[in-house]
Amino acid sequence: MSNETSFSQINFVAATAEDYEEVMSISGGIYNGMDYLPFKYHAWLKDPQRRTYLAKCEGKVVGFESFILVDDGTTAVVEGLRVAPWMRGRGVAGLIQKFCLDTLQSNHPKVKRVRLTRAEDPPASMLMKYKVISSKALVSVLIAAEKLDTTIKLLESRVNNLDISNLSVLGAEEILRFFEESKSREDLLPGGLIIQDCRPFSMHKSNLNFLLKQKIVWIYSHLGDSSGLTDSSKAKATSGDSHAYLEGFLSLGTPPFPVPLAEGIYRLDIDMFGNDPFYAKIHVLEQLKIGVRALPAGGGVACFLYADESLRTELGQLCEGLTPFYVAKEQLILEMEI
Ligand SMILES: CC(C)(COP(=O)(O)OP(=O)(O)OC[C@H]1O[C@@H](n2cnc3c(N)ncnc32)[C@H](O)[C@@H]1OP(=O)(O)O)[C@@H](O)C(=O)NCCC(=O)NCCS
Repeated sequence: MSNETSFSQINFVAATAEDYEEVMSISGGIYNGMDYLPFKYHAWLKDPQRRTYLAKCEGKVVGFESFILVDDGTTAVVEGLRVAPWMRGRGVAGLIQKFCLDTLQSNHPKVKRVRLTRAEDPPASMLMKYKVISSKALVSVLIAAEKLDTTIKLLESRVNNLDISNLSVLGAEEILRFFEESKSREDLLPGGLIIQDCRPFSMHKSNLNFLLKQKIVWIYSHLGDSSGLTDSSKAKATSGDSHAYLEGFLSLGTPPFPVPLAEGIYRLDIDMFGNDPFYAKIHVLEQLKIGVRALPAGGGVACFLYADESLRTELGQLCEGLTPFYVAKEQLILEMEI
């Protein structure tokens, strides 16, 4: 397919392994060095649920976009959008997105909506098409390899005296049960969505296989056994007021992967669901410990914490004194019916 534009003709083709270097050459500096695509590109091409496309101009790669088919094929989750620096500001992103939309409508008519995540302040033209369905706070810090031990000790001292006995790392069967019981947990998941590594999924069971393949660390805490809760948590949990703490706390740790920022820096995304500050802190600590154990020797971590907005201050306090790493301060979840 092609589009006539004021500058030249743009063609859209499926991305291939041979295009890797060219795609990377248009990706320099994206997300301040925290880009996931260099690590994920080849795996994305092999994923049967995913489609990956390039925009080309005069034979050169000038853009990239991808989507995965989720929610039993009824939703496309879009990610990876980028345009070559020398082509930005000329509408190319709009053309790529239109191409993907046309492709969805002609090749995947079962798809009824497009979903994605963005940082705060998306372009106004985007907000005319998409509805913001929820948002989360993002707190991110960089921990150099030589500071990992002392940082973990510091965080341990900050959650001192908090009972961690109510943390369960979920196995595949428990995750399945979590999906089956998701109706009763809808308030834990804003908009009924589970967001993993910037991808929003419904709790449709067909998403389970995809998520299990990601080797995510799922940690869940029940509110029922409230031995670790602060007094205010307990009071709120039993009061039934509209700001009561939600049923339990869930965190998903995506296995750390290398990013372009520097040799030996690995990005660890921790997606959290629930609004109890006590759980938020111990989940961060446990996810960090597990993530660090998975690092190759000498690896440092860029830790991205996504959580309910009400937890921003507490997470900031937990991370006080660590090196902040700014990419964005918010994660918006957007959806468009097609
Ligand atoms: C963000 C980026 C893709 C925009 O590309 P661009 O071609 O310069 O975009 P333009 O400013 O010309 O905007 C043209 C269209 O793209 C859309 N657009 C711009 N930024 C967008 C974004 N972050 N996400 C989705 N759409 C975007 C606009 O809404 C507009 O749509 P329309 O033509 O349908 O009205 C480009 O600056 C880039 O590659 N940045 C680095 C990577 C990045 O930040 N990607 C963000 C998405 S994950």
